Amino acid sequence: VPDRHAPVSAGAIADGLSHVGVGTGDIVIAHSSLRSFGWVSGGAEALIDALLTAVGNTGTVCMPTLSYGDYGPARPPPPFDPATTPSIVGRAAEAFRTRPGVARSLHPTHSLAALGPSAEALVVGHEAELTPCGPGTPWRRLADKRAKVLLLGVGTRVCTLFHGPEAEVELEARCWPPVPCRLATPAGERIFHLRLHRPYRGAVSNRARLRPVLERNGLLRETRIGSASVLVLDAAGLWDLSVSLLRARPTNRRNRASLVSRRAVRRVLQGVW
Ligand SMILES: CC(C)(COP(=O)(O)OP(=O)(O)OC[C@H]1O[C@@H](n2cnc3c(N)ncnc32)[C@H](O)[C@@H]1OP(=O)(O)O)[C@@H](O)C(=O)NCCC(=O)NCCS
Repeated sequence: VPDRHAPVSAGAIADGLSHVGVGTGDIVIAHSSLRSFGWVSGGAEALIDALLTAVGNTGTVCMPTLSYGDYGPARPPPPFDPATTPSIVGRAAEAFRTRPGVARSLHPTHSLAALGPSAEALVVGHEAELTPCGPGTPWRRLADKRAKVLLLGVGTRVCTLFHGPEAEVELEARCWPPVPCRLATPAGERIFHLRLHRPYRGAVSNRARLRPVLERNGLLRETRIGSASVLVLDAAGLWDLSVSLLRARPTNRRNRASLVSRRAVRRVLQGVW
C-alpha cells in the first residue's frame, strides 16, 4: 500500500498518468492543484516535467493560462500581452507559461499555453474568434485533436472545456455582446471586439452532477497519485455530451438556475442523443 504522506516524485506522477492511459504522442490539457498531491518533490516544475515525460517528444502538453475577471461591456479587460500577463489558475500553469518554448494564445481571458509539436497549431488565431472557448478556438481544437483533459486534484468543476459547448449552444446567454479588448500582437497593440463570458448558471453548471454521466458514457477514468484524485476525460466526448445536454435542456426562465435534471441524465444514459 503506497504511503499517501510520502513525497510524490515526477516519476510517480508520470507512472500514475500512464496507468490511466496517458501515453506517448497524446495531447493533454492539465488543470491542477499542486497541494492536492501532498508534497511534490520539485514542486510545480516537477509536475510539468511529469506531464512532458508522460506524453513524450511526440506529445503536446497544454495548460490553461486564464486571466479572467469581472469584465464586460462596462468594464473591458486590461491590455493583454501573452508574454507578460499572469495567469490566475494555479502555480503549475503559471510556471508552465514562463517555460522556454511554450506558446500562448492571444486572448484576454481564456488563453491556452502549449508545448510540443502541436503547440503552434493549437494556439494560433485565438484573437480572431468571437467567443473565448467556442468553435474555432484552441479549446475546440483540443476536442478536434482528441486531447485528454487531466484534472489533477481539482475535480470536474474547473474544466474550462465545458465553456466551449456552452458558447456553441447558448451564445447569447453565456457571452456578453462584443467588448473592445486591447491585445499585444507581434505588430503592436490592437483592439479586438470579443464576446467574453458573462456570469451564468445553467444546465451544465453543476459539473459535479455530470460526473456519473461522463463515467457511464466511458468518458472518464480516475486514479490516485499521492493524495490527489486524478481524472482523465475525453475532450471530444465531453464536448459532444455537453452539447447534447444543453440542447436537451435549453435556457429558459424556469431552468435558468437549475442543475442537470434527472430526466435529462436518464435520457443521455439511454442513448437518446
Ligand atoms: C485554485 C487552485 C489553483 C488551488 O490549488 P492549490 O493546490 O492550493 O494551489 P496551486 O496549485 O497554485 O499550488 C500552490 C500551493 O501548493 C502548495 N505547495 C507549494 N509547494 C508544494 C509542493 N512542492 N508540493 C505540494 N504542494 C505545494 C502550497 O500550499 C501552495 O499554496 P500557497 O501558494 O498558498 O503557499 C486549484 O484548486 C484549482 O482550481 N486549479 C485549477 C484552476 C483552473 O484550471 N481553473 C479553470 C477555470 S475555468
